[in-house]
Amino acid sequence: MKLEVSASREVLFEAAAERFVTAAAAAVRASGSFQLALSGGSTPRGLYTLLAGGRHAARVEWSRVHVFWGDERCVAPQDPASNQRMVREALLDHVPLPSSHVHAIRGEDEPAAAASRYEQALREAFATPVGPPRSAPGARFDLVLLGLGEDGHTASLFPGSPAVREARRWVVAERAPKLSTWRVTLTPLVINAASEVIFLVSGRAKAAMLKRVLSGTREPDRLPAQAIQPRDGELRWLVDGAAASDLDSPRTSPT
Ligand code: 6PG
Repeated sequence: MKLEVSASREVLFEAAAERFVTAAAAAVRASGSFQLALSGGSTPRGLYTLLAGGRHAARVEWSRVHVFWGDERCVAPQDPASNQRMVREALLDHVPLPSSHVHAIRGEDEPAAAASRYEQALREAFATPVGPPRSAPGARFDLVLLGLGEDGHTASLFPGSPAVREARRWVVAERAPKLSTWRVTLTPLVINAASEVIFLVSGRAKAAMLKRVLSGTREPDRLPAQAIQPRDGELRWLVDGAAASDLDSPRTSPT
């Protein structure tokens, strides 16, 4: 696991954008495409906006990028809560990505049906019609971008959810208990097959949970973010100084 602390939120987004560009180039070299899962939330939105700007966008071969979502709220795609809408507005509407490379979760469908349909789409993209996710290039995510909730959730894997231990399905429907809404989420099974997973964490409000997830007792049922442990890939925590403020010896990278 690699932990990188940036001095500010802006520096954090710059560091994440650099990683994104590097991962995209490496994946295109290895397999001809970059298969990417994006998360919702306000922190990643800042990264998407930065990536959509000319300087970084020009360094990505968008015609080779395939965009998937780590999770979706069960709402229509035009709903302000939709992760699809957020990613389109912040990033996809501004870069030359072929529309056939956008693989959205259908938040407007019945949640269980949307989950199984999305699993089918992933299995097709990864050429793995049955069985567990494989580690071969082209058969897994090259990058999964995740956020951390103040309650320890990630994607839409909430504390107490059986999805954290799902051993067969790649995508499940989840009722988010506190929010009384349905979500569709990737399971750790498929996330942990990725070549690289990046958590992006910003702000003082996340500090206590970041410390618990990184250095507290291992209890993934209560802290689903702890269930993310790529089995044959890299795990990177990119955080800002405010989020790192409870860690014992946060090392801040140069600004
Ligand atoms: C979502 C997410 C969720 C998010 C975290 C952190 O759809 O909300 O995918 O897991 O990444 O809750 O969100 P913030 O960056 O807004 O704190």
